[in-house]
Amino acid sequence: MHPVGRFYLTTPIYYVNAEPHLGHAYTTIIGDALARWHRLLGDDVKYLTGTDEHGLKIQQAADAAGLDPQAFADSIAPKFADAWDRLDIAYDDFIRTTEPRHANAVAELLQRCYDAGDIELDTYRGKYCVSCEEYYTDDELLEGERCPIHKRPVDTFEEENYFFRLSRFQDRLLDWYAAHPGAIVPEFRANEAIGLIRSGLRDFSASRTSLKWGIPLPWDPDHVAYVWFDALTNYLAAAGFGDGTDAYRTWWPADYHLIGKDIIRHHCVYWPAMLLSAGVEPPKGWAVGGWLLVDGEKMAKSTGNVVKPLDLVDTVGVDGFRYYVLADTPYGSDGDFSYEGLVARYNADLANNLGNLTSRVATVIAKKCGGTGPPPAADSPLAEHAAAAYEATAAAWDVVAPSRALESTWQLIRATNAHLETHEPWKLDPGPEVDRILGDALEALRIVTVLASPALPNTCQSIWQRIGLDGAVTDQRLPAAATWGGYPGDRPVEKGAPLFPRINA
Ligand code: MSP
Repeated sequence: MHPVGRFYLTTPIYYVNAEPHLGHAYTTIIGDALARWHRLLGDDVKYLTGTDEHGLKIQQAADAAGLDPQAFADSIAPKFADAWDRLDIAYDDFIRTTEPRHANAVAELLQRCYDAGDIELDTYRGKYCVSCEEYYTDDELLEGERCPIHKRPVDTFEEENYFFRLSRFQDRLLDWYAAHPGAIVPEFRANEAIGLIRSGLRDFSASRTSLKWGIPLPWDPDHVAYVWFDALTNYLAAAGFGDGTDAYRTWWPADYHLIGKDIIRHHCVYWPAMLLSAGVEPPKGWAVGGWLLVDGEKMAKSTGNVVKPLDLVDTVGVDGFRYYVLADTPYGSDGDFSYEGLVARYNADLANNLGNLTSRVATVIAKKCGGTGPPPAADSPLAEHAAAAYEATAAAWDVVAPSRALESTWQLIRATNAHLETHEPWKLDPGPEVDRILGDALEALRIVTVLASPALPNTCQSIWQRIGLDGAVTDQRLPAAATWGGYPGDRPVEKGAPLFPRINA
């Protein structure tokens, strides 16, 4: 059984040079569902998201908009918060890197690494991709000195920088990962991270002088912190690091950083090295996702193939959209977004499976049970399916595998629909046999409602009420709420409008 405790979960903080798109929504929805799952387990959860507002990329976007960078960031950051509200993202904290609490944390972390002797002055000569905010060596570039991720030409520059001596951390990082197996999920992404460390580590620049839009180094204010050093520290800042106390340890180390595969190097190599240098424990886990591709390309402002999440909500509803994001692509792998895929998934799993089960149960109860839900039988054949569904769903969430978690929950929906089709209660006369079949189906549906609620918070609350249950489904606690026999019976069951009307593509 999961030990109840604290669960600190983070998303990457999003650059404010672009408005929220499907790629940002992807990670944020996965985090929200995982956070909700942990709340059901009884954990005290802190789900953090936010915005990354410093650096050259934002400075340039602000220049192009004719605004100073703070005003520019102020105009975009709320759009992320609004998008998350509209997608029912129940975040507990939203951090902006322009907040004082963040600046304090960055100054503290920099100072600790400097005092440890791991930050030193040197000269940087080389290539830089502004879209990545990352330095590249010649052999990493595509033909024509282009960035391997954005396929656009990189800039060449030379300046005096403070360097973080990452090269000193190879053994310490390898030892740390060896002592913490399973810290990075899924495993093939862990291999990628370990591979990066084994292939040799280059010192990275921790400051810039040509840029003013950033957090000054505490010991040399002519330099501002490199934007990745700055951004990564948000995870500590939101826990309270840098406030002059050790209170951050209430939440730190974080349980999982959710990240995309493009930022493995920063999160799984730079970040733990920075923390080890500063004498702060690395996070407990990283869950690395792939990209959602559109026509085989990563969705990005610079690629021009941006899909706005809120447009899709108009077609399939908030829960329909959340479900698609969670169920369609195994977390870790790339997924191909298509409108046809979105509608097909909605029709198959939501309209036909969950929607159909809910309406069928309510219809038969109205016709054959006088509209009152009967209690389940203790020895129902569905009880085994429910127990198996709970076990598999919990095991999948435990390793941040939402598509597998939902697939496991949907097994119970399928078993319940099959149970109804085998016994055809709609063909029987009212009486104990019909009551028994429907009581079992209601109980299975109650359990499905709890298990699916992290993905479909609104719909599950509606089902909960329609089958006559009190309170909020979010107040349920696992594993008790998944134990067979919880439906009390003798409750009014309401049919209501279709939860997921079929969409004709
Ligand atoms: N600001 C940095 C992160 C700093 S965290 C300390 C950043 N921001 S970002 O807005 O460019 O991207 C944030 C995350 O969104 C990354 O994990 C990236 O992988 C993810 N996605 C952006 N586009 C994506 C898709 N098309 N598909 C899935 N996720 C992608 O990087």
